[in-house]
Formats: sequence, C-alpha cells, structure tokens
Amino acid sequence: MNIHFGVDYYPEHWPEERWNTDAELMQKMGVQVVRMAEFSWHKLEPTEGQYDFSWLDRIIDLLGKHGIKTIVGTPSAAPPAWMINQHPDILPVDREGRRRGFGGRHHDCQSNPAYREYIRKIVTAMAQHYSDNPNVIGWQPDNELGNSHDGLCHCAYCRENFQNWLKKKYGTVGELNKAWGTAFWSQEYNDFSETFTPALTVTGENPSQMLDWKKCHSDLIVDFFKMQADIIRKYCPKQFITHNYMGFADTVNYYDLGKQLDFVSHDQYPGGFFGQQPHTDNAYLSAILDVVRSYKDKSYWIMEQQSGITGWQIMGRAPQPGQLTAWTMQSIAHGADAVIYFRWRVCAIGTEQYWHGILPHSGIPGRRYEELSETVHSMAPLMDRMQGAVPKPEVGIVFSFAQLYAFEIQPNHPDLKYVDHLLKYYKALYDRNIPVDFVEDTGDFSKYKLLIAPLQYLMSPELEEQYFNYVKKGGHLVLTMRTGVKDEYNINMTDYELPGKLGNLAGIEVLDYDCLNQAEVSVTYYGKDYKAEKWADLISSKENTKVLAVYSSEFYAGSPCVTENTFGEGKCWYVGTEPSDELMAGLLKTFTEEAGIISLGNSGMEVELTAKENENGRWIFAINHGSSSGVFDIPSGYRLIRGKTAGVLEPFEVQIFEKDLIL
Ligand code: GLA
Ligand code: GLA
Repeated sequence: MNIHFGVDYYPEHWPEERWNTDAELMQKMGVQVVRMAEFSWHKLEPTEGQYDFSWLDRIIDLLGKHGIKTIVGTPSAAPPAWMINQHPDILPVDREGRRRGFGGRHHDCQSNPAYREYIRKIVTAMAQHYSDNPNVIGWQPDNELGNSHDGLCHCAYCRENFQNWLKKKYGTVGELNKAWGTAFWSQEYNDFSETFTPALTVTGENPSQMLDWKKCHSDLIVDFFKMQADIIRKYCPKQFITHNYMGFADTVNYYDLGKQLDFVSHDQYPGGFFGQQPHTDNAYLSAILDVVRSYKDKSYWIMEQQSGITGWQIMGRAPQPGQLTAWTMQSIAHGADAVIYFRWRVCAIGTEQYWHGILPHSGIPGRRYEELSETVHSMAPLMDRMQGAVPKPEVGIVFSFAQLYAFEIQPNHPDLKYVDHLLKYYKALYDRNIPVDFVEDTGDFSKYKLLIAPLQYLMSPELEEQYFNYVKKGGHLVLTMRTGVKDEYNINMTDYELPGKLGNLAGIEVLDYDCLNQAEVSVTYYGKDYKAEKWADLISSKENTKVLAVYSSEFYAGSPCVTENTFGEGKCWYVGTEPSDELMAGLLKTFTEEAGIISLGNSGMEVELTAKENENGRWIFAINHGSSSGVFDIPSGYRLIRGKTAGVLEPFEVQIFEKDLIL
C-alpha cells in the first residue's frame, strides 16, 4: 500500500515518556507517515558543530516499529540563537532599513554566506545520517519558503546578489538602463555596482526595477532550496524531496521551485488564518488545490491539512462534525495522493498554542480523532486505487507570476487584484461544476478546449505567438482588459493601439479606457442589464467582429464591451471590463457552450462535484460544504462506493462514485 495519511509531529515539544502513547494512538488511527524536525535546529545542533540526532533517531525508530514512516524536515527555517549571536548579519533587513530581531522563525537572509554554510553542513550531516534509514522516506527542506519574511531582505549581501543577477540578465549597464527606463527622473547607472535594492524611497518607485527585484528574490529562494536539495539528492537518492507550498502565495515562482521537487506539497487551511477568513468560500478553496496541482501538472500531497481550530492570538471557528472530513475529501478530489494533518496534538508552548491539532491540549483523543480515524481507515484502500489520479479539465486559466508581480507593483485600479480577477472566472466555472486547470503561460495550451487568459498585461512576442497558434488551430481563447499593455520589462508599449498585436486575434482595437475608480458601469448582454466594475475598455471592433455586449451607461454607452472574433479554426473573445458575478455567469455559459465543455452535472448550493482519473478508473466526488442537506445529479454509468443515499447529501457528507475506464 502506498502512503496516504499522516500527521505533522513535534515530539520535541513533549516529554519522551509520552512518545509511546502517541505512536500507539497514531497506529490505531491509521497514520502511515509523520513529518518531523523542520524547526528543531537547536535540538539537532545545540552548539556549533555538535550534532545530536539521537532523539530523532529514537522517535523515528519507535514510530517505525508501529509501521509509521518519516519525512525529515531540514531546520533552516529556525536558525538558533547561538548562530545569530555569532553572525548577527544573518538577520534580514527590511525595506525601511531595519534589521529584524531574533525570535519567531525565518529570521534569516537567504543570501547570507555564513548562514548558507551552516545549512550546508547540517543538511550534509543529516543526509549522510538518514540516507540508509529504512523508515525515512523523504525530505522537506525548510518550511513554507516565502512565508514569514515580511518583505524582502535589503542587506549588503542581497544588494550584491541583485547586482550579479542584473549583470547576468542584461550583460551591459546600457541594456539595464533601457530596460528600466532610467531616463525618467535621472535614474541612469554608469555601472552595475551603482544599482540598489529597492528600499523605501521618498516618493514612488521604478516599476521595472521592482519587477526584476521580485523575480530576483524568487530566484534566490529557488537557489536557496536547490542548495539543500542537491545535497540530499547526492546522499539519499532513494528518498523523495518535496516542499510545502501555500496555494497562490506570491513570493516564490512555484512553477520554478517545482522543478526541484519530486512532487509538490501544500498546506491547506480552509478555516483561514487567525480567524480573518471565512469558511465559506468553497470556490477559493477549490482553486487553491487546482493551482497546486497545476504547478507540476501532477498529483500532490497535502503536507498540512487543517485538523482543528486555527489561530495564534485570535482563533477561528470550530470545524463542525464532518467538516474536517469534507475538507480532506476536497483535497483528495483535486489530486492529493496523501493527506498529512497539522498537527498531531495542539502544542502547549510557544506562538502556536491555539493552532489546534487532532488531539486537544490534554492529549486525550476526542471527536476530531474519532472522525478522522474513520475517514482514514475507510479511505486508505480507495486511495490506493486512486494513486496518481488527477482531474482532466477541458478548461485552462493562465496563471503567471510575472503578471501577478506587475499588478502588485501597479494595480491600475485600487481594488484590482490579479488573483481575485482570475478567481472571478474560476468561480463561474466552479459554480457549474466544470473542472479547471491553471496553466503557466509557457505551458501546453493545446490540451484545453477553452483557455481563459485574463489580464495579459506584460506581453512578449513569444506569448503573442502562443495565443495566435492556439486559436488558429481551433482553440477558444478569452482575452481581457489590460492585455498587451507592457513589454516584459514592465514598460508601456507604443507601437500599436491596445491590446497590441493581439488586436488582430481579437478583431478589435482599444482606443481609450476608463478606470472605474469608485464607480461602476452598466452592460447590456442579450437584452439584459448587468453591472461591471473596475475598468472599461473603449473598444472599436473590426468589420467581422461580433459584438456580444455593449456598455449601457457613461459617455461610451452603446459601444462594445465584449466581442467575439473567428480566427483560423478557433475563436477569440475579448472582455473589456471586470464583469459582476451575474454577467460572468452569462458570459461563461456562452463561452463553454461554444467550446463544447461538459459539466459534471447540476448540484445544489454548497455542493461541489469534482472528478479525477488514472489508469484504474474515474471517480466523481460530491462534497457537501454546507451544514444543511444538499442534492446533485447522480452521475450515470458510475457506482456509488461511499455515501448513503445517492444524490442526497447530509450536512458535510461526501459521496464517491466510481467507474472503470476501458482504455
Ligand atoms: C507634479 C510634478 C510632475 C509630475 C506630476 C504627476 O505636478 O511636478 O513632475 O510628477 O506631478 O505626477
Ligand atoms: C503553516 C506552517 C506551520 C504552522 C502553521 C500554523 O502552515 O507551515 O509550521 O505554523 O502554519 O500557523
């Protein structure tokens, strides 16, 4: 049997006399793997060069005797006090020039050479020590890279790193000056050594410099990770390497980081962080899982799945009976091969005393243990058949870190957020139970019948060509507002009207625009009036272009808002605004019907339908995220393998339907 369920375990927080009880309870629950040690640097190296792996050996061994394997975390997210005192410059410097203090975690600068040297040494020692341990199956270097850094480090090492990165990218300082448009406000440089990291300025910032800075920082983190991964691969070729992602988190380009991994892992906290985020946005939770799968275009693991109330200082709501299971199932439905719960037992010490686990503070198994035990035991055999299964969507949404960065730097409209805008399209599909992939802009578009490419703000000749080719060969493409505005260096293009050459694909020109700052606009679509917001492109459509919707307010009332153009064997739609949910639903109905996209069926409010498949079969999950009963269309040709009354769901119930694939 493959590994399917586990827990994040911190034996160093508890007396050793308790370990045996924990191991027994875990085994009883069906736990097959634990992740340990990712924050325990001081326990592993109490003073410089004095490694002590004995405690970790003992717990790995004890768990191994209970049939439980281990994923070892490297402890670089928590450099100990002795090291910081010896090398205070390991502490990162923020944009205001302040050096941050010790405490918390990730108080580190990833370009610092002394810190890197300590990491190389301890990771080498750990890798050599655990390479042949039959109970160690894999590694998680560091933890949630890109989290906790609260902005980027601006120390002297990071400045030097940035200068080297620029030199490598541009070759000559003249090219850099051109790419950054430094003629503006006298920002020209005579040499790479004159450039700065973008610290807090008196006024404004250079958008091109900011874009390179964000890309450079992402590359730094990937390089930091690779340094550890290379050591582990050298000594531990039989063990896997993964890392725990955070959905749409922006700091690291997760596609790039994915190239270092055997598979992606992710931390899924549907209850949100610190009680700020409501439980209810099921489309968002689903989108997170889809993007995680898309980073490496394969099945993934959940390295931390919520198992109780979340919170540090402030707490969120208690998961209702059945809800932890529903969330687990959602992770599995979107492509998880394994689910590891965070954490085994809520800790009594430190910052996270209220981030609850399966066991409460008392350590006595309660309702969460009972519920998840049942889930684990009933799902494990099924998940063996489902190993490697993923959804096979016919719709792709282009998601790019460069576009995300560009909109963080200049949102255009105060409330325009790249990911939120993408999720508006996503939600309209989710609500109709149409599966979705996210796809990198260098990815394979040809597998999608419908490709939605919102906010293609930064444009390159290569990407333009990708879109032309996709449509020419029969693809259905959606382009939107703020497309083709800038070149890849974040500088406005001036050779054409918007959206640049893609205007030929969409059959339009955008001759002016209106930023709907604190305003909205009306749009007429098939004789009905809708609202739209944030932006209005003033579109001039070409002769053969069909106008699907027009503005019905403002000085541009009557002019095109949504258009359709046939090009080659395919179609290109252009949406010049951010549609309200109702308008979006209408547009997506048209787009999906034209592209021949099939929904998994109808379902009532809060009921999600998701499908995944591998060479053994295909499964449809019906997940009730609501606390009242829900209904859905029973899929035909499938048999019910989990659930009570097919088509009718109790609160938080999940039904699974199975079909053998005849290939
Ligand atoms: C002021 C400044 C100009 C320009 C404009 C617009 O008027 O004098 O240099 O910056 O604002 O920002
Ligand atoms: C993240 C981290 C964990 C823990 C949890 C709860 O997911 O990876 O170490 O801090 O959040 O805060």
